[in-house]
Amino acid sequence: MTAQIIDGKAFAATVREKVATHVARIKEAQGITPGLAVVLVGEDPASQVYVRNKGKQTVEVGMNSIEHKLDADTSEETLLALIDDLNKDAGVHGILVQLPLPDHLDEDLVINAIDPAKDVDGFHISNVGLLGTGQKSMVPCTPLGCLMMLRDHHGSLSGLNAVVIGRSNIVGKPMAQLLLGDSCTVTIAHSRTKDLPDVVRGADIVVAAVGRPEMVPGDWIKPGATVIDVGINRIDAPEKGDGKTRLVGDCHFDSCAEVAGAITPVPGGVGPMTIACLLANTVTACCRANGLAEPDGLTA
Ligand code: GUN
Repeated sequence: MTAQIIDGKAFAATVREKVATHVARIKEAQGITPGLAVVLVGEDPASQVYVRNKGKQTVEVGMNSIEHKLDADTSEETLLALIDDLNKDAGVHGILVQLPLPDHLDEDLVINAIDPAKDVDGFHISNVGLLGTGQKSMVPCTPLGCLMMLRDHHGSLSGLNAVVIGRSNIVGKPMAQLLLGDSCTVTIAHSRTKDLPDVVRGADIVVAAVGRPEMVPGDWIKPGATVIDVGINRIDAPEKGDGKTRLVGDCHFDSCAEVAGAITPVPGGVGPMTIACLLANTVTACCRANGLAEPDGLTA
């Protein structure tokens, strides 16, 4: 079998289009422009690239982008005061504090200072609890993107065996909750899981989110299974020349694609969906804040 490639880049473009359509509708009917505030502390180069992309795409779908760039030595007090201001600002519907934060800042404290209704990352403890109890919440962007692609591919996920490899708070755990919410039989596998290959061989859906390059080979994959590869790992690529690198996922693409029914590539799979879902969460937060109908197909 040669797997169907799930094109995350194209899918993310359709999500952004839906967001843009909904934003235009809210603007026209209500005179409200959704606003996303992104807070970056310090000068981590990767974070600067993410924040720039978020700002650019926010504006492209017609929303307001508010950026706060703070020095690396910003005090917790100053950061919490800014979050308090953003919580109170009626023009701000979503707040994202870019992680990681410098070591002297307590990430949990900072994230939990965000108004849960504006927590477009879905990291606030209230949103974690709401998701875990099957209630309406803000859902972390990467797992939401994976869910959208799985629903699009399968229609119903009910009764399917799903194995999530990785137990992070940002991807693994919320992904498992979302799959459970769609009535999958869910296993969360991790570094201590016994007989991981056999566990994965039982899966109709594999979501790999461990951050280990090409860890999952094709002979772990059940024929016809759907493979969602969340990993983005940069490895040396001497075949491209001295000092060159390339991006790979947590799954060994070529061998998995021979067995799977469908697979997301790296790059161009899950990656582009994360910012698209951040935009989706922002428009959802704006609708909820103003008692408006939420857009179809952009929430869990
Ligand atoms: N750093 C890397 N990815 C993310 C993300 O999805 N949200 C936040 N807040 N920080 C990140």
